[in-house]
Amino acid sequence: MNGIKLLSTGSAVPAKVVTNDDLAKIVDTNDEWISTRTGIRSRRYCGEGESHTALCLAAARQALARSGVKPSELGVCVVATFTQDFLTPAAACLLQRELGLLEDTVCFDLNAACSGFVYALHTAQCLLAAAPRKYGLVLGAEVLSRVTDFDDRSTCVLFGDGAGAAVVEWRADYPSLHAVLGCRGNDECLYAPGVNTSRPAHIHMDGQPVFRFAVEAVPRCAKEVLSKAGLGLEDVDRFVFHQANQRIIDFAIKKLGVDPDKCTGNIARTGNTSAASVPLLLDELVTAGALRSGQKALCVGFGGGLTWAGALLELA
Ligand code: COA
Repeated sequence: MNGIKLLSTGSAVPAKVVTNDDLAKIVDTNDEWISTRTGIRSRRYCGEGESHTALCLAAARQALARSGVKPSELGVCVVATFTQDFLTPAAACLLQRELGLLEDTVCFDLNAACSGFVYALHTAQCLLAAAPRKYGLVLGAEVLSRVTDFDDRSTCVLFGDGAGAAVVEWRADYPSLHAVLGCRGNDECLYAPGVNTSRPAHIHMDGQPVFRFAVEAVPRCAKEVLSKAGLGLEDVDRFVFHQANQRIIDFAIKKLGVDPDKCTGNIARTGNTSAASVPLLLDELVTAGALRSGQKALCVGFGGGLTWAGALLELA
């Protein structure tokens, strides 16, 4: 057995809270429609002077301080995102400079949309196995408010901004994440165009096929992780689902037949923060004492790509 455990978490969200009533002032919508269809009541948006880089830095500093790991002890730094401040340099390269990571720390960004943080955990585990230094810094961070189409009421109500960070340690006697990663290429039902397309640079989504994809992928992925680990649903202390939509999460809870008290989330206050969603929730659970030393969290992400990713993460 060899793998990583979670040593500590950190998070950062912008100061500005945007409620459903705030959105109803600029878009033809209302709190009742948004909250019953999605579970979202408010989200955070970056304002002037706030940036993806600043959110990453704040979340990373908090996670590092809580772990006691020094920046010079990191072997890997991976940021899961698709809304970084620059196409290049990567957000992880800016963290290298700001945190003072050694120059041979493997620093890069990874785009697997809302599955990104779980992809990044698995990637860090693989890289750390071969790295000279066995600590890793893994982030999920997004500023989705800057790629949101405020003329499209069916998508603009969903998204929010934030960053979550995790410090992990690889050891030969630590369990594997038993990660399950997958993708089904699709640029039609959920996409955000880049610089080489003529399509408007906003998030586009056809909600119903994405919904159908998610309610099938999430329980399947969770079961596949447990089957790889040789464990059962009862062995999981916390289910950390990507906070995209409370109805998707409720479907997954029902299909898996797990205790909803083990699946509490924060979507009401965050909205869908894509790659930041899983680490933001992990940080909330750890700081609230709802995920404790020795306990296992089954993290499941899903979204653009289309992608899905699950991993069993133990708190050291
Ligand atoms: N406020 C009020 N009405 C709205 C609205 C809003 N913000 N957005 C859409 N509507 C209206 C539509 O115009 C439509 O009206 P009509 O029946 O008069 O034409 C009606 O609500 C239903 O629209 P529809 O798009 O069919 O809604 P839906 O039931 O599919 O719900 C989502 C929309 C987006 C909430 C739902 O499809 C969903 O959750 N999809 C998955 C999204 C997701 O989680 N994506 C991220 C994955 S990482």
